[in-house]
Amino acid sequence: MTASRILIGLCLLVSLTSVPVGAEDSPAAPAAGGGAIDGEKLFATSCGFCHQDGGRAAGRGPKLAGSERPDAYLINRIKVGKEGAMPAFGRAFSDTQLHAIVAYIRSLKDTGK
Ligand code: HEC
Repeated sequence: MTASRILIGLCLLVSLTSVPVGAEDSPAAPAAGGGAIDGEKLFATSCGFCHQDGGRAAGRGPKLAGSERPDAYLINRIKVGKEGAMPAFGRAFSDTQLHAIVAYIRSLKDTGK
């Protein structure tokens, strides 16, 4: 009896503590951790649909991992897009967000896919 009570207590504790952790992750509360912009998350939501496997593999869009294009080219492509191929994100992202996305692309390992 006491053992199962402890177990239930533990489960409650776990589920209670996991709620605020998840909330911190949500984009609605970016100020909590000092506001570091997560390029990987931005990429996953806006780009991953076409740039498969987080940009590591070709899908509707080309593979981005291991790109030899300069940063300015990548940023320009994101802002301007490509007629009939990739949407223009224009001012959807701040410069800081654009740099976070480029930093994310640079961090990808080219796995040869
Ligand atoms: C609707 C599909 C689609 C979405 C969404 C999309 N892309 Fe693209 N992207 C493409 C296609 C297709 C190309 C190839 C265009 C071309 O022919 O140059 C491309 C090209 C690029 C290039 C240039 C690659 C190179 O070496 O020439 C970059 C960088 C890029 N995308 C980044 C992004 C980022 C970052 C996002 C999200 C903010 C994004 N894309 C969203 C389809 C997409």
